[in-house]
Amino acid sequence: MEEIMYTSRSRDPDIDRKYEEALVAVESELGQVHPARVAGEEIFADETFTVWSPIEDGLKIGVFQQCGEITAKAAFKAACDAYTAWSQTPFEVRCAHIEAAADQMEEDFFRLAATITLECAKTRTEALAETGEAVALLRYYSSVIREQNGFRQPMPADTETDRYESVLRPYGALAVISPFNFPLALGAGASAAALITGNTTVMKPASAAPLSMLTFCQILEEAGMPEGAANCITGSGPVFGEIISRSPDCAGVTFTGSRDAGRWLQQEYTTWQPYPKPMILEMGSKNPCIVTAQADLKKAAESICRGAFGYSGQKCSATSRVYVEKTVFASFAELLANRAAHCTVGDPRAKGVFMGPLINTAARERFDAAVASVIDAGGEVLSGGQSYSGEETHGAQFAEPTIVAGIPDDHPVITTELFAPLVALAPFTTMQEALHLANDTEYGLTAGIFSQDKAEVEAFFSGIRFGVCYANREGGATTGGWPGYQSFGGWNGSGSTGKGVGGPYYLLSYMREQAQSRHA
Ligand code: ALA
Repeated sequence: MEEIMYTSRSRDPDIDRKYEEALVAVESELGQVHPARVAGEEIFADETFTVWSPIEDGLKIGVFQQCGEITAKAAFKAACDAYTAWSQTPFEVRCAHIEAAADQMEEDFFRLAATITLECAKTRTEALAETGEAVALLRYYSSVIREQNGFRQPMPADTETDRYESVLRPYGALAVISPFNFPLALGAGASAAALITGNTTVMKPASAAPLSMLTFCQILEEAGMPEGAANCITGSGPVFGEIISRSPDCAGVTFTGSRDAGRWLQQEYTTWQPYPKPMILEMGSKNPCIVTAQADLKKAAESICRGAFGYSGQKCSATSRVYVEKTVFASFAELLANRAAHCTVGDPRAKGVFMGPLINTAARERFDAAVASVIDAGGEVLSGGQSYSGEETHGAQFAEPTIVAGIPDDHPVITTELFAPLVALAPFTTMQEALHLANDTEYGLTAGIFSQDKAEVEAFFSGIRFGVCYANREGGATTGGWPGYQSFGGWNGSGSTGKGVGGPYYLLSYMREQAQSRHA
């Protein structure tokens, strides 16, 4: 497993030079018109939209196709036409295609990372990690399907002449909808899972960051994927959602994004489709972390700072609620505030910058409104609280790493996902109370605890109702799940399948069982 880890890249002594060269190269090619990709063809729609980099004013990522019904229908037709042959292709051949795509991504590693930085303002460390995660997802899914012999399992025979098998088979042409915040890893991972299990795909990346997935689609084509198996169209999310909900050709959906968008899509899709079809929904969260009096408080502060403020809190895994045992509340809050004040905020292309700008103005407005609502509720801003933009930041929208406290348990900052660098602290007295507070949410993606006490850690694992749980995690309290190590799937309002991305059961969501009986 070691060779698929990003850490092998982080040991590359030339990592900074290679990333910086790639940045220059990718930046010099920005601003082009990008067609959608259907059956290996370039498709131009009647309308287009322009994507600007969140890093600086005037940095044009490119012009993308505003695809509507005609292109979406063409993409699903291509995916349906390709489905029969692809679904009947031996799993070893499907794996070989995905592995070839992973090899190509390794070749293009630094260009892909640079693209991520430019289109969604991820720092170099986070962008390199995401690229590594994308490659790791492809390789991991291939290893799972090979280990499982393509999910064909002999069943006990009850006579000498009858042979029984359970075979997992794909559904058809799936829509793959991916988010702006992991523009490569979460789109490429879901697409690879769909394809490797024999489905075909119509990918629709977030409009804020579509370039990484268009590039990935080209990589799949170049890796020899049959024509029409992998298609990528761009445009409005709600328009695409309406189209797929009413399309009989769409055999299922794999969606990663906000809970509101996911729930809306679920309702539309189930309303208009003639029968139940699979919906793999990976949605947002409001992730808690518990810090007890038995914790190494300095380590906890370091890790929570990274978990809450990494990529400016714009991760579904971000730490956003921290419950601290009353006796250590004041000392922990001081440590965290000191640590947050030392975060380097700036241009994500620069070495050593920890936090770049937010994705857009709406995110800044959401952050400002949240801070104002804390003050209105009589809460305290312990650190940060300001947002800024303007000439000195080239128009980028920044928010300070922000820590708040003193708000009620039902305050929107405690209950609603913000996707901003803001974490709320609250005190507790018993583990039971801490678990109650942590679980008191509709969400259930990631959770953490810091404690050196084994009994507290075990009480956490048995009582917490979240899909991805970490004890004493270094480097990002509730974040950084890695394929093959930590499956990444939400419970309750955070996810629909209960089987995590990058985990041993994830591919099961992309297949249905066929019982085969053969009588000699
Ligand atoms: N693997 C990413 C995380 O855990 C999504 O933050």
